[in-house]
Amino acid sequence: MPHGRRPIPVPIGVFDSGVGGLSVLREVRRALPAAELLYVADSGHAPYGEREPAFITERVLAIAEFFRAHDVGAIVLACNTASAVALPALRAQFTRPVVAIEPAIKPAAQDTRSGVVGVLATSRTVASAGVARLVQVHGVGVRVLLQACPGLVELVESGELSGARAAALVESFVRPLLNDGADTLVLGCTHYPFLRPLIEQVAGPGVQVIDPAPAVARELVRRLEAGATSDAREGSESFWTSGDLAHARTLIPALWGRAAQVLALPC
Ligand code: DGL
Repeated sequence: MPHGRRPIPVPIGVFDSGVGGLSVLREVRRALPAAELLYVADSGHAPYGEREPAFITERVLAIAEFFRAHDVGAIVLACNTASAVALPALRAQFTRPVVAIEPAIKPAAQDTRSGVVGVLATSRTVASAGVARLVQVHGVGVRVLLQACPGLVELVESGELSGARAAALVESFVRPLLNDGADTLVLGCTHYPFLRPLIEQVAGPGVQVIDPAPAVARELVRRLEAGATSDAREGSESFWTSGDLAHARTLIPALWGRAAQVLALPC
């Protein structure tokens, strides 16, 4: 398939337990300016990080079915927790390309100069076999500190991205990693890029913060075999939420940075 300016002909479905995956959606939009993007925020069931794997898998399959009904050409599972738990089940049900996300432990381990990497993620992701494997494969000779961050997803879901309370909670997770020598921090949850200013405020300029969202968008482009389109036509986005509709209609445009039509998710 030739690389070039071919617009993506079918919608791309992107979803997360909530609004966090918008941090991935914006990278997908950057990589595919002309694509039709469908986004589902399963905010009515967030945080997934505190849920049982069977429940997460059930939600992932229900949302995949919703996307299938919209004839999406690919799904981006923009949730580390769901990717860690439900990826095999999703791939078994949905036969078109599925791109998942995982904490960027590999590049962090390559980049660290202090030899200590901190990973910020949900409790479920931190405890997952997938993360254990990443540490085992890529963390040789490096200390990888896994920090569960209960409460951060809820901050972003409520739209509380600044202020003393949010700053104190972020600091309570980041400070111990710095004290243990981490010079590289991995954002292992797609909600956390929205807290990046607070994280960087605690970490300071000498600490590198890694967000895997651009790598996920690049992987999607590779999987679509289309190359990055530079088509002048503007793409479109549609948003659905399983959470409070009035709240989502304020929060999603605020995080997305422009007007967004948000509908109630029917599943
Ligand atoms: N954005 C999700 C992730 O990347 C948050 C999961 C949750 O709802 O706990 O893991």
